[in-house]
Amino acid sequence: MEKVTIKDKTFRKLIPYDTVAAAIDKVADKMNKDFKDCEDVPVLLCVLNGSIMFMGELMKRLVFDCQIVSTKLTSYAGTSSTGKVKQAMGLTADLTGRRVIIVEDIVDTGNTIVELKNILKEAGAAESYVCTLLLKPDAYKKDVHLDYVALEIPNDFIVGFGLDYDELGRNYKDIYTLDI
Ligand code: IMP
Ligand code: MG
Repeated sequence: MEKVTIKDKTFRKLIPYDTVAAAIDKVADKMNKDFKDCEDVPVLLCVLNGSIMFMGELMKRLVFDCQIVSTKLTSYAGTSSTGKVKQAMGLTADLTGRRVIIVEDIVDTGNTIVELKNILKEAGAAESYVCTLLLKPDAYKKDVHLDYVALEIPNDFIVGFGLDYDELGRNYKDIYTLDI
């Protein structure tokens, strides 16, 4: 589909699945190199719900032993950030002493990443890294280092590949942007 309609808004295709998949290949290669000889078992932290599809694609490309833990954070209402991040579900396992790779769908203002870093520090994680499918460089104003970024996109609202507009559109395989 070149265009999709969700509720009151129309979106047009911005990034086809093949481009997304190729970008995930690259990020997974880098992660595999970085964690190739590790003696611990790193944790992939799935930030629900947006990261589900990315996590599925990423993890099947990883060749080192890893575990999955989840949490759920929310900050968006409709098509804009409320600026307040809420932890809607706590960490699903103890992360004391663990190295954690945060797996995010998108880094926008960076509020969520800052909050996640704090949550992991409080949980006693040994170290944390950030892996995000998408980055909006024009919106990101924090100094948290982003270790793995698959794709950079303009500062516009998008849906698909796990990302939603009012909880709809997460199931689209391609990524769509608001058609104005
Ligand atoms: P941040 O805290 O502003 O960096 O936003 C991070 C979270 O907001 C992401 O994990 C997404 O769930 C959501 N988000 C940010 N931008 C978009 C977008 O363009 N479409 C859908 N969700 C978004
Ligand atoms: Mg999210």
